[in-house]
Amino acid sequence: MNILILGSGGREHAFALKISQSPNCDKLFIAPGNAGTAALGENVDIKPTAFPEIGDFVVQNEVGLVIVGPEVPLALGIKDYFEQREDIRDVPLVGPSKIGAQLESSKDFAKRFMLKYGIPTAGYTTFDHTQIQEGLEYIQRQQIPVVLKADGLAAGKGVIICKSQHEACTVFKEMLLESKFGQAGTKVVVEEFLEGIEISVFVLTDGNSYKILPSAKDYKRIGENDTGPNTGGMGAVSPVPFADLEFMDKVETRIVIPTIDGLKAEGIEYRGFIFLGLINVKNEPMVIEYNARMGDPETQVVFPRISSDLVEMLWSTAKGTLDQVQLELDSRSACTVVMVSGGYPGKYEKGIPINGLDKVSDNMVFHAGTRYLQDQVVTNGGRVLAITAYGEHPVEAVKSAYQTVHGINWKDVYYRTDIGQDLLQWPNKAVETSSE
Ligand code: AMP
Ligand code: GLY
Repeated sequence: MNILILGSGGREHAFALKISQSPNCDKLFIAPGNAGTAALGENVDIKPTAFPEIGDFVVQNEVGLVIVGPEVPLALGIKDYFEQREDIRDVPLVGPSKIGAQLESSKDFAKRFMLKYGIPTAGYTTFDHTQIQEGLEYIQRQQIPVVLKADGLAAGKGVIICKSQHEACTVFKEMLLESKFGQAGTKVVVEEFLEGIEISVFVLTDGNSYKILPSAKDYKRIGENDTGPNTGGMGAVSPVPFADLEFMDKVETRIVIPTIDGLKAEGIEYRGFIFLGLINVKNEPMVIEYNARMGDPETQVVFPRISSDLVEMLWSTAKGTLDQVQLELDSRSACTVVMVSGGYPGKYEKGIPINGLDKVSDNMVFHAGTRYLQDQVVTNGGRVLAITAYGEHPVEAVKSAYQTVHGINWKDVYYRTDIGQDLLQWPNKAVETSSE
């Protein structure tokens, strides 16, 4: 079957690698892709939000499976577009409809959903511009720190952890009165701060049956020891050593099952990934956020640890027959280190030649912001590469990934040197379940 992946990051390169290895993949297309995906399939110059062009391409190239990488096309209703258009209605697509994608695209929707279905999450109240005074009074009654979240998609920048009531009131007014986050900030969720260590858990579901994929820990801040501004993600490790049987059992019974049952009860047909952003509060999993897609760079450690045929799994997800496939995992750990352009997440240069790529032999190099300039791979974004390595234990995976990182360079390259360090204190007790 011919397969189309939408997106252009390291996540989509990791999808492309796994999919290109499947005997079920004939032609692979990536729209728009990057220099890494060009080696695995054909890059197509179409934006993931250009629905009519995507639809025409699917028809003309007899695409039999569409996989949506990023959140924006899902939030804009790509699944609904396919369903409305007769000539592509039956083409399997992995990703929820617009209403299902609200788990990610509206923090208020997600919070109301969790409250209704008893899913553990931080206490909160939502306010809009007609409720400024009430909101300010509410903030005064909260403990510090307090978390403010713009309701809509804000590319990872819409969450502000405020260390004083004064700061919280200023941010609250900026969001609602000065449109600091544009449309995304027309409602604001004011939430209790949760103290603990974060973990990402990924679920693939066809709306009835589900598979829990390997867990991962993401490193979001730009600086060592989680300091400085937030980024798209500077590295990841899978599995997460503290995700033991007891913890994962709580995740499944208190979060995964009620989420899938809740979607069903709401009449939302959800066929795609659910990314649970969790925080471990004294061994109790709490939901910080839902995403309606895989994580980046978590995919670059999660997918290399899946040994079953990803095409079969994704096709079954879209067709509603996920219960008929088995999830098999590679028991090794994986670590990815993201190499970024100097200056990221602020201003950075593009078009800088990358050296050392031809010398990598053992580990995986996933491209994110790259492109070809004649025969040379050059930088083309903030996050440029994600280097993934396996190891019997996370310690070995971390060490091996850094060995490869040290052989690659370009002008002003930056990466964190502490990816995985916080996890090395735990014995690896991670368990991985896959239930229906
Ligand atoms: P989000 O965009 O929802 O992933 O939030 C970004 C980051 O803010 C998360 O990864 C957490 O580190 C942090 N965060 C969000 N909500 C909370 C909360 N209620 N308590 C503590 N930290 C939070
Ligand atoms: N790495 C976090 C995300 O993909 O949202």
